[in-house]
Amino acid sequence: MSEVIVSTGRGGTGKSTFSAIISKYLASPLLLIDVDPDQSLGDMLGVDLEKEGVNTVSSVVSDIQGTRKLGSRLYFDELEASLYTNCIYRSQKFDLVTLGTKWAEGCYCPEDSSLKGIIPRLITEYKSVVIDSPAGLEHLNRRVVSHINDLFVLSDPSLKSAKHIERMKRIIDAVKITYDYLYLVGNHEFNAEGEEYLRNSGEQFLGKIDYDVNVKDYNLKGKSLWDLPEDSPACLSVKKLLKRIQEIDKDHFQVRQESLT
Ligand SMILES: Nc1ncnc2c1ncn2[C@@H]1O[C@H](COP(=O)(O)OP(=O)(O)O)[C@@H](O)[C@H]1O
Ligand SMILES: [Mg+2]
Repeated sequence: MSEVIVSTGRGGTGKSTFSAIISKYLASPLLLIDVDPDQSLGDMLGVDLEKEGVNTVSSVVSDIQGTRKLGSRLYFDELEASLYTNCIYRSQKFDLVTLGTKWAEGCYCPEDSSLKGIIPRLITEYKSVVIDSPAGLEHLNRRVVSHINDLFVLSDPSLKSAKHIERMKRIIDAVKITYDYLYLVGNHEFNAEGEEYLRNSGEQFLGKIDYDVNVKDYNLKGKSLWDLPEDSPACLSVKKLLKRIQEIDKDHFQVRQESLT
């Protein structure tokens, strides 16, 4: 059984950074899915898809739309085959599927439903699956997955973030996405007062991610966040959160034990 982890929250709260770092400590085989059209997860992990000859879901959909009748049997068969062969970046450490940018007018419905179509079969091949979301709430309405094991909500210290949590829960309920655990995580901008607010929010507050100058530096240079020193503040924070989760339910969360020490 695979464990599906999703990070969500407002723009710039640190979702992709968190997804990149937490994935390093999860049980493998590991699949990362970048649902943000502004595809940044690969960059944060030092993966250059173009150089690797791996396509995004959006580019495959665009190619097939040009040659097959939308919605036809041939369209779906070709789409599925192409997504499997062309859109999965594979490496020793993790596999990665990227929604990618759509370079044309229109909504992301065909791209999202294509991704949604392959996810149920695809994830059965992995022990851990991490989904990095775009900013905001719309991706939840699109219901790319129907069940989430661990939902991490990244918050910055603002009233908007607090409201985001309420709205997110309402949408999840309305579109019938189920989850086992919802965790609140304060981002690097949090101070003690903000933490106190999340602690009293009625949700499971895990803690915060400390400010880490290395994160900025690695992102700027396109270096993989998996190569951050183990004692850098962001890694230490994520490991602390994972230990906290294990205290909550030691059998539920699949972490590579040796990696937390
Ligand atoms: N712990 C941290 N310390 C310092 N800077 C961070 C940290 N986490 C994220 N950032 C920076 O904040 C910005 C937004 O982070 P990102 O993970 O891209 O957010 P999101 O995916 O929510 O839009 C990036 O420039 C990133 O380098
Ligand atoms: Mg992001």
